[in-house]
Amino acid sequence: MIRYEHVGLRYGIGPEVLEDINFQLDPGSFHFLSGPSGAGKTSLLSLMYLGRMPTRGLIQMFGQNIGELGRDQLAAMRQRVGVVFQDFRLLNHMSAFDNVALPLRIQGRPEKEIQNNVAELLDWVGLGDQKYALPNTMSGGQQQRVAIARAVITRPRLLLADEPTGNLDDEIGFRLMALFDQLNKMGTTVVIATHNQAIIDKFGHKRMILEKGRLHIEEPTKHGLRKRLEGVY
Ligand SMILES: Nc1ncnc2c1ncn2[C@@H]1O[C@H](COP(=O)(O)OP(=O)(O)O)[C@@H](O)[C@H]1O
Ligand SMILES: [Mg+2]
Repeated sequence: MIRYEHVGLRYGIGPEVLEDINFQLDPGSFHFLSGPSGAGKTSLLSLMYLGRMPTRGLIQMFGQNIGELGRDQLAAMRQRVGVVFQDFRLLNHMSAFDNVALPLRIQGRPEKEIQNNVAELLDWVGLGDQKYALPNTMSGGQQQRVAIARAVITRPRLLLADEPTGNLDDEIGFRLMALFDQLNKMGTTVVIATHNQAIIDKFGHKRMILEKGRLHIEEPTKHGLRKRLEGVY
């Protein structure tokens, strides 16, 4: 699904913020991306959603070397990736409904299907009565749920989320994690940047840990696994 070999990233003439990143994500896997603030989590996600190109190294996605793709091919590949940005990036002149519907409209899906699917998902994330609200009239937590709904509405092959539970209380945070889990069970590969230790423990997935621009991967903690087996989740 994704393969990184000796990938580095620098901004302008600054130092490398990602140094010699090597990893592979299998299709259908679920990883938490953690590490202290400034470690490079958002930068790594921006490479993964093809928002930036690395300054060195090899990146393969969906079996293709991204350095060999043209603009149109990269754009097509981006459509298979759902992203929840840390700052949401909702379109403020469009209702919550239209923000979530946008990726389906870009794909040219029938309007009837769009109406049903978007309404159902907004109900599910607890925004059924806010469908026609404009994002800047909604709370941070509500905007975040719109951003999450927009990222998952197309059932992307790869879902990336940057601190997606940051503005949410634990209950709604766990509920949205369950949504990501459900999507993962249907085959979506998921990477979620999070600081939230309660969520990391409860869901017990593998961890990609960034420290000072270097990455290593850790198996789930026994604690997290045990909780899972006990059926807490
Ligand atoms: N657009 C940018 N231009 C220059 N430096 C940046 C930019 N974005 C991030 N950085 C720097 O890259 C490093 C990693 O940042 P970031 O990826 O945002 O980390 P995290 O998401 O883990 O907090 C930091 O030192 C940050 O200052
Ligand atoms: Mg960040």
